[in-house]
Amino acid sequence: MDDIQKDSTLEFLATASGGTERALQQELIELGFKSVRLNSGGVPFRGDITEGWRACLHSRIAQRIQIVLGRFEAPDEKSLYEGVKSFHWPRHLTPGHTLSVSAFCHSSNLTHSGYIAQKSKDAIVDMLREHYGERPNVDRRDADMRVFVYLARDRATLYLDLSGAPLFQRGYRTEKGEAPLKETLAAAMLMYSGWDRRTPLWDPMCGSGTIAIEAALWARNIAPGISRDKFGFERWADFDDECAGIMRRMRGDARRDATGEMPGILASDNDPLVLETAKANARRAGTRIAFRQMKIEDIEPDSSPRFVITNPPFDRRLGVDEGFYRRMGAALSRLHGATAAVLSANPLAMKYIPAKEKSSFTLKNGDLDCSLAVFDIP
Ligand SMILES: C[S@@+](CC[C@H](N)C(=O)[O-])C[C@H]1O[C@@H](n2cnc3c(N)ncnc32)[C@H](O)[C@@H]1O
Repeated sequence: MDDIQKDSTLEFLATASGGTERALQQELIELGFKSVRLNSGGVPFRGDITEGWRACLHSRIAQRIQIVLGRFEAPDEKSLYEGVKSFHWPRHLTPGHTLSVSAFCHSSNLTHSGYIAQKSKDAIVDMLREHYGERPNVDRRDADMRVFVYLARDRATLYLDLSGAPLFQRGYRTEKGEAPLKETLAAAMLMYSGWDRRTPLWDPMCGSGTIAIEAALWARNIAPGISRDKFGFERWADFDDECAGIMRRMRGDARRDATGEMPGILASDNDPLVLETAKANARRAGTRIAFRQMKIEDIEPDSSPRFVITNPPFDRRLGVDEGFYRRMGAALSRLHGATAAVLSANPLAMKYIPAKEKSSFTLKNGDLDCSLAVFDIP
């Protein structure tokens, strides 16, 4: 580990999917990260390099963790190239590593993100060729190092992605139902819904089980990244034996801290095949969840879980019409005293829930604009 890695003022960005920023900010504060701020699209924080690693292992809501390598003015192609080349890339990369570079730009003289990425990649490989006499290859699918260039008002920020594969890929969901939620979105829903991790929880339209599994992992305090073989940063040239030792200890601590009490968690769906998928996913995640095949219309007034959180089918493709939402609302209304949190892109999903909305959040589910509405059922 070198002096730069020990610098406790390194700047990180935890990237968030649309609308999850506040939940991510709250999560990072609860996890004890420092100088946590809020931006649209992400949550900056500061610390030494191990704080970036810890965020990869422990954040349930972040999509990626990136470190800010530096900033410079880039009003034209030449200054972009020189600016990228001015960083000491051999510290992180050798010709044996693979690389990918992507870019995003707005309000700048350079307007083509593909071209910005290309020029930046040229600068990195040229510098490495000058240093080693050889250059690394590009791998768009599974690069050892992913570089991201953000150009706004002619000022470039260079980010290195610590995560590798995006953090929602926990590894347990190898099988999917129809329209599955990203694991990170399910975790953000749980945070926004106000669930206390102790009240029995039920997803009555569980699909591949994402919400119930994320709830179980969170309740037991199982680190979401614990099943990851390697994060991106573990493949970099400067990840030496000392770094590997620190990471081993961090994983060991995370395993030891997975001691939370499991509340009752129930996941049900009317589709038996989908339920088999959910059961297999829950097994792989090492979680204990009760599964039941049932229609939401069959909810009984005395059904026990007091916290319901779900993501109903939202369009005709998934076989629903207004009548379905009317029946769903009637079923939920029988859960007197329960809290219900419903995520949907279809406003009709909320229309027939006969309770006052306690809070609501706008979230992106892929390209879909959704609303998460939380109700106290009278
Ligand atoms: C949008 S998907 C849920 C996806 C889930 N959140 C995931 O991450 O995989 C909606 C689910 O509702 C189920 N469903 C549809 N009608 C139902 C009903 N009447 N009762 C119970 N489940 C139903 C479908 O089988 C489907 O799995």
